[in-house]
Amino acid sequence: MRSFTPDFTAELTELFRWRRDVRRFQKTPIPDALVTECLDLLRHAPSVGLSAPWRLVNVHSDAARAAAIANFEAANAQALSGYSGEQAERYAGLKLSGMQDAPVHLAVFCDDATVKGSGLGAGTMPQMRAYSVVGAIMYLWLGARARGLGLGWVSILDPEQLCADLDVPEDWALVGYLCMGWPEIETETPELIRAGWETEAPKPEVLLR
Ligand SMILES: Cc1cc2nc3c(=O)[nH]c(=O)nc-3n(C[C@H](O)[C@H](O)[C@H](O)COP(=O)(O)O)c2cc1C
Repeated sequence: MRSFTPDFTAELTELFRWRRDVRRFQKTPIPDALVTECLDLLRHAPSVGLSAPWRLVNVHSDAARAAAIANFEAANAQALSGYSGEQAERYAGLKLSGMQDAPVHLAVFCDDATVKGSGLGAGTMPQMRAYSVVGAIMYLWLGARARGLGLGWVSILDPEQLCADLDVPEDWALVGYLCMGWPEIETETPELIRAGWETEAPKPEVLLR
């Protein structure tokens, strides 16, 4: 049986504690081999029926990046208009994407038309395919962090516009837009806590039935 040492378990917990959503990146490029190494971790991620429904687009060209950044800026302005007063001021001061500086942009989609898995487990809850993609993103997030990289998840986007701009197949639905790079700073404290927007996640409560 493969077992893990208490030291490893403690280190793993530290990795969880230090993961962070990173929005402030150095402009230093990431070696291609390191990006590939991180992406290969997805092969170990669980997925409903082993459907591996994640699909990735490396948003690399100037035109594709400019479209994604414009998309974020429009969606963020729209989101800001939903707040008022002091909360609007605070929202406007938040940094909610590292798209300008991140050396790697990955758009991650769920392919709802995949035949892999033959539909197993997704009949009653087709959303399980998208959940599988979220789980896989966590592998990438933690795997990148373990290698010194930071990852930031951007969701303030118009998904239909992004799909059109990236010209992806019709059956692909956007799950996450990820910025990856070397973090400018390392911290244990989430940015939204440091900015005074939110407090820490509560201890999970478990109902007994
Ligand atoms: C599904 C998802 C979408 C997110 N979208 C954004 C986003 O659009 N912009 C942003 O700055 N952070 C985004 N985040 C990061 C969260 O704000 C962050 O995870 C949370 O504040 C806790 O901070 P931590 O990840 O550093 O622990 C997203 C996170 C998740 C899981």
